[in-house]
Amino acid sequence: MENNTAPKLEKKPVIFSGIQPTSGSFTLGNYLGAVKNWSKLQDSYNCAYSIVNMHAITVRQDPAQLKKNTLSAFALILACGVDPEKSIAFIQSHVKTHAELAWVLNCYTQFGELSRMTQFKDKSAKHADNINAGLFTYPSLMAADILLYQTNLVPVGADQKQHLELARDIALRFNGLYGNVFQVPDGYIPKTAARIMSLADPGKKMSKSDENAKATVFLLDPPDTIIKKFKSAVTDSEALVAYREDKPGINNLMSIYSAVTGASIEEIETQFAGKGYGDFKLAVGEAVVEELRPIQEKHARLLADKAYLESCYRAGAEKALGISQRTLDKVYKKVGFLPY
Ligand code: TRP
Repeated sequence: MENNTAPKLEKKPVIFSGIQPTSGSFTLGNYLGAVKNWSKLQDSYNCAYSIVNMHAITVRQDPAQLKKNTLSAFALILACGVDPEKSIAFIQSHVKTHAELAWVLNCYTQFGELSRMTQFKDKSAKHADNINAGLFTYPSLMAADILLYQTNLVPVGADQKQHLELARDIALRFNGLYGNVFQVPDGYIPKTAARIMSLADPGKKMSKSDENAKATVFLLDPPDTIIKKFKSAVTDSEALVAYREDKPGINNLMSIYSAVTGASIEEIETQFAGKGYGDFKLAVGEAVVEELRPIQEKHARLLADKAYLESCYRAGAEKALGISQRTLDKVYKKVGFLPY
């Protein structure tokens, strides 16, 4: 199936990234570590951003909630600055090539490779009653997401590096057998990306599935909730706002403050010299509230206009299909599927 009207992703390097719609919102960590940068990449790269709802069902979801969260997450990436005119923004399940390529790639991915994935081991320990095949082959679907768009660069956090490595291995293996079918993707770690830790346990990454509600700030948390979470952030007993190895709680708060205000670590140390942690925590909370206010407002406006959102995700899916179908057609031909 050729689609001649499909837009071409040309010249500029291609960036692909995906985010799960699990809670309809993202954490401050997702935002400062990834999504905030997505909008900045749109002029220099051809970007495709997907709400990966097919990945989400590898753990059990409430269907009504998943549907609602998917739309909310889509609106949220737009509210964070992803421009549907510049980038391809779409919902994974709308673009059938993802499932189709994932199947083929499953047949070029080894059981042993998938068994070594630390996320699989972690998630199967956490969901011991539902260690399904999708949870196991999750990385093949992720590889399909990436490889369908001939992606050059994938912005991913440390927790996804192993999956990206596997996507590269699969691409190299397939290319080795059949010629240059896939661009082999590289990881992309923007210099400005912040690694945000839990507010309750700064030794751990901020995670949306943390059981401690105070550990994680969500983008759609109301302002007073955000302030409360920062006020209860775990620090140390020294009462010194300084970036040092033995002060993970304060370091984390400083990184957050720096990421939202643009102030350097030295500037923050100077600004808060002689001040207590109470003042500093409040300042960080307020800065985060101000950073998120326009995003929350835009998100609410977008969700109130379902017709506009629908036109965006439909247009995104069409563009995504046009590009990805070309890759899938090649793959089908290479593996020997009879043309239809
Ligand atoms: N596995 C990623 C995560 O949980 C989400 C994801 C799915 C992704 N497909 C992707 C990220 C492709 C980058 C590229 O964070």
